[in-house]
Amino acid sequence: MLVVGIETTCDETGVAVLQIKSKRFLLKSNVVASQVKIHKKYGGVFPTLAKREHKKNLPIVFKKALKEANIREKEIDLISVAVGPGLEPCLWVGVNFAKDVAKKLNIPLIAVNHLEAHILLNFLYIKNFDIFPAIALVVAGGHTQLFLMETIGKYTLLGETRDDSAGECFDKVARLLGLGYPGGPAIEKLARFKVKNAKLKITLPRPMIKQNNYDFSFAGLKTAVLYDFLKRPENVRKSKEYKILVAKEVQQAVIDVLISKMLRAQDEFGAASIILGGGVVANDELKKQCIQQAKLRAPECKVFFPKKELCTDNGLMIAMAGYFHKDKSTRDYDTIKVDANLRVC
Ligand code: KG4
Ligand code: ZN
Repeated sequence: MLVVGIETTCDETGVAVLQIKSKRFLLKSNVVASQVKIHKKYGGVFPTLAKREHKKNLPIVFKKALKEANIREKEIDLISVAVGPGLEPCLWVGVNFAKDVAKKLNIPLIAVNHLEAHILLNFLYIKNFDIFPAIALVVAGGHTQLFLMETIGKYTLLGETRDDSAGECFDKVARLLGLGYPGGPAIEKLARFKVKNAKLKITLPRPMIKQNNYDFSFAGLKTAVLYDFLKRPENVRKSKEYKILVAKEVQQAVIDVLISKMLRAQDEFGAASIILGGGVVANDELKKQCIQQAKLRAPECKVFFPKKELCTDNGLMIAMAGYFHKDKSTRDYDTIKVDANLRVC
């Protein structure tokens, strides 16, 4: 079976070809055209510009993905497309394109949830399914959500951010420090530097870490960075030492809160595994500390992360999610709609 996944929820145009042979996944191609350079000058994603770029790039990315996979259009069995959550104008570009291709080939189309897809991508490497119940944590640019996962398709939301997502917090702090967009990779890079005999001390809050729930709040963390920034003289604000210390502390604050809530949920629900996904999960320090802490506090629990380069948006995760939900696919193409605020459950 050949599944094509199409992703246009934000600023990456992605198309992947996934082959499934006796329940084994074979990645044939995964092409992503990033718009990062275009949005960099605005310090964030500009939706109408993103839509224009998706329109221009999607047919090219689609062709390239087929060529790299060495398949012809008529060999495709299923088209999978992300219908939300995301930026509405961008989502329509992917959905309309997917409908056109599916109609032309007279093959089924499946609508998938972008956040669930971030999690399901891990099943590329998960070989046996004795991993449930699992705790799933999605940390992306627009969302931070924690779920109890009984099996694929059966989720209970345990908590989510009450304001900004962790990714947004990184993006905004990076902007304040003049590090460019996207902020997460820039913060991660800076936080790797060592500072010997630091003259400055920066302490940021760990929002909601002590609260007995699974919700998050990262807007206050961003504001705490802003207050610290404003009270510093200009020469300090612009110094490399200051930027490194802020990057280290903001990254650690996010890591502390995510790990604390994730492991508490694992304990409460006796989860056999923890499955992570979303752009922020590309952070190596987060991955390292998650694995260390889980080993200490829940040695029996397995921890799954996608490969670093697959954490940010791509067509492969959409193809994976489409395959798992193929029974809900349809040839009634017009029933498929975009939902910018689509929920996993
Ligand atoms: O999943 P994603 O590509 O798009 C959304 O679904 O939103 O996530 C993008 C987010 C951005 O906020 C970006 O700054 C963050 O993921 N990000 C990272 C890293 N790479 C991307 N955050 C921390 N460390 C990284 N290495
Ligand atoms: Zn995403």
